Amino acid sequence: MERKKLVVLTGAGISAESGIATFRDANGLWEGHDVMEVASPEGWQKNQALVLDFYNQRRKQAFQAKPNPGHLALAELEKKFAVTVITQNVDHLHEQAGSTNVIHLHGSLFQSRSTADESLVYPIKGWELKLGDKCEKNSQLRPNIVWFGEMVPLMDQAIAETQQADIFMVVGTSLMVYPAAGLVHYVPAKAPIYVIDPNLPAVNKRTNMHLISEKAGVALPELAQKLLQAV
Ligand code: APR
Repeated sequence: MERKKLVVLTGAGISAESGIATFRDANGLWEGHDVMEVASPEGWQKNQALVLDFYNQRRKQAFQAKPNPGHLALAELEKKFAVTVITQNVDHLHEQAGSTNVIHLHGSLFQSRSTADESLVYPIKGWELKLGDKCEKNSQLRPNIVWFGEMVPLMDQAIAETQQADIFMVVGTSLMVYPAAGLVHYVPAKAPIYVIDPNLPAVNKRTNMHLISEKAGVALPELAQKLLQAV
């Protein structure tokens, strides 16, 4: 029998129990910075060194982080489901946990890209990207991260996956940032939606919606066991 398709939208909350700070749990400050200073094209124009340093620190932190039971439960679901993880996170904890099909909607901490040609993307070796690090066209490299006000290149792919979901989950995201937050509207009516967040985001009520007000590291392993046993 064909495997059911499980599509999961994750946000910063799924990595919280791995020690990575979320964005909106601290008054709009992100590790002490105004997000617009460090995560927008305007911020980059204003102070490239600050932005590079900010992401260098995030990268350093991400190297030390380990997947938690929430990430591991999503990987385990691949035993019986065709799982697609659509994550807003730029860490690689889903991959480290063993998830094999991860769409990084907002880019990756571990890649740089050219400021002259956005198709030029490179792996970052080690933790540091510096002023003066250049692409093959001799322009400064920036983090390959989708900043506020920028296009989300993988959005069409994420929508297509969502439209095929048999089961959909929303885990650890405040659903404040579009277009990612709009993905929920593409879930087929017959597919159940599970929302897991200790501080549940506002979502339109519909039938077949399960709101679970709990941490991902607690709720996801339980839900995964339930779903795996039901197959
Ligand atoms: N388990 C599950 N959810 C949690 C946990 C936990 N242990 N801890 C916190 N949360 C929830 C919070 O209640 C909140 O709803 O995680 C959510 C985090 O929300 P945000 O900080 O807004 O993060 P996110 O939704 O991923 O942000 C989206 O905004 O800044 C941009 O591009 C950035 O990808 C990011 C996007």
